[in-house]
Amino acid sequence: MNLVFLGLPGTGKGTQAKILAEKLAVPHIATGDIFRSAIANKTELGQKLKQYLEQGALVPDQVTCGIMEARLQEEDAKQGFILDGFPRTIVQGEALDESLSKLGLKLDGVVYFAAGEDVLIARLSGRRVCESCGATYHLVFNPPAQKDLCQLCGGKLIQRHDDREATVKNRLIVNRDNNEDLRKYYESRGLLITVDAENPLQQVTSEIFNKLGVS
Ligand code: AP5
Repeated sequence: MNLVFLGLPGTGKGTQAKILAEKLAVPHIATGDIFRSAIANKTELGQKLKQYLEQGALVPDQVTCGIMEARLQEEDAKQGFILDGFPRTIVQGEALDESLSKLGLKLDGVVYFAAGEDVLIARLSGRRVCESCGATYHLVFNPPAQKDLCQLCGGKLIQRHDDREATVKNRLIVNRDNNEDLRKYYESRGLLITVDAENPLQQVTSEIFNKLGVS
């Protein structure tokens, strides 16, 4: 299956993409993860991206589309993929169509994570991520067994810089209109599969699996 996970920051795209990608044995391709890794590795690209992520601003479309076009050409994406956080603008949506068409591929569905913004602020401010393996937790909704420690690899749990309150608000503002434009873009093409992302985590997983026919 070739899928896009679409939704505002904190709706649970990354959490659910990891679960479904493992189930389907396809890569989970997240632009945010690619960018953070470039920053952590202090690559030339990473130095350029840092300011955008710190401010919760969008990385320019040209840069993002170039990276994703190359990523989709990699061998592992031939058997299917879940795109998380891309596309995030109509320009990116059109670039994705073009990249897929060059590869002879098409999207099978766009899972849209519907949730109100008040829920999202609580989700993002309580999120903790493992600095070693990237696993995601929440202080209240999905706490680790041992405080501040990843239960998968024992790594230290940290708060993402862009999960601080001022940046969270900016991220929601920056993404609001683009998110709605893309929702309509995919709805008009009959690709949209909406899930109620305000439900508890396992319930959201079940709804996604049911709607995609995954058992
Ligand atoms: P990115 O890393 O993609 O961040 P985001 O879109 O802001 O999404 P998040 O990762 O914050 O949220 P999520 O929906 O994955 O939620 P999660 O599953 O973690 O992007 C970071 C930055 O990179 C952007 O700000 C931008 O600068 C840049 N960027 C990325 N893509 C770009 C693009 N295409 N173009 C331009 N710039 C781009 O869940 C959140 C929390 O809630 C967790 O703690 C989780 O445990 C908890 N949780 C999840 N589901 C539930 C549930 N059902 N109930 C209760 N808690 C839940």
